[in-house]
Amino acid sequence: MKSTLATKNVVKEYHVDEATITAVDDVSLELHPGEFVALVGPSGSGKTSMLAMIAGLLSPTRGQIFLGGEEISQMSEAQLTAFRRRKIGFTFQSNNLVPFLNVQENVELMLRLNGRYDKQGRERAIELLTRLGLGERLHNLPSQLSGGQKQRVAIARSLIHDPDLVLADEPTASLDTTLAYQVVETFAELIHEQNRIGIMVTHDLRMCRYVDRVIQMMDGKLESIISDRQEIEALAGMDSHAHTPTSHQHPHPNGTGAVRGKVKQNGHITIPGAPVMSPTMI
Ligand SMILES: Nc1ncnc2c1ncn2[C@@H]1O[C@H](COP(=O)(O)OP(=O)(O)OP(=O)(O)O)[C@@H](O)[C@H]1O
Ligand SMILES: [Mg+2]
Repeated sequence: MKSTLATKNVVKEYHVDEATITAVDDVSLELHPGEFVALVGPSGSGKTSMLAMIAGLLSPTRGQIFLGGEEISQMSEAQLTAFRRRKIGFTFQSNNLVPFLNVQENVELMLRLNGRYDKQGRERAIELLTRLGLGERLHNLPSQLSGGQKQRVAIARSLIHDPDLVLADEPTASLDTTLAYQVVETFAELIHEQNRIGIMVTHDLRMCRYVDRVIQMMDGKLESIISDRQEIEALAGMDSHAHTPTSHQHPHPNGTGAVRGKVKQNGHITIPGAPVMSPTMI
């Protein structure tokens, strides 16, 4: 049985000199197993801060975060490390691959850390990397890979230990359009197949075609949640033009989530079909 994720009135404040920056402002969310969501919003709206708190890498200033009934926001560093290792997988833009381990070893490292390094695990690593288009690169070092290939290794590494929750910050930022579609589609399959929760931060609204809900942040607040399929497809630019891949659509895995609002096309938001990349940070 996989876990539900809940954030309750989560606030993150940063203090710089005399100033207080409220990066995340009273965000309450509930995500269920089998849901893949996109977290979108303008630069500085609090997406990375939100993701880092959910990953247990950053403590909320106020509020609570639960995964499967366990309160992440109350854990000690030691508890968090063990919890992350078991339950959470993440990919950030700086993909943190170990430079002296090859592709396969980088992915298997997560199994070693969890005491689950066995024949089955090794086979799963190869299968996962092959599905992500890296079957021919298993024995290459990270320095011998392109940016997009490294990012795909990081995605494989985030999934190999069978986490309940998978987080990705701009997973397609260094991929070209066709590859980005393929990677997010595979990512969505790997989330849906195993009934995980997946959260993807993206500036490229076209990638929303593969998600079940779109969560939009604005100035640290939760602006809207879109779960209506037609609205998501319109946001992803699927009713319009050019780069339409041949892929199928993913069904709603469990039909959860009511529509709580609509994304306002108010100039802060990326126009569908025109990705805006920006550096992300933790
Ligand atoms: N370590 C920090 N110290 C101080 N302020 C920070 C820190 N990290 C983020 N901020 C500020 O908090 C706000 C939210 O930042 P965050 O990185 O979460 O936004 P984001 O939505 O991920 O942006 P982007 O799309 O550019 O990656 C911004 O105003 C940012 O300047
Ligand atoms: Mg960011």
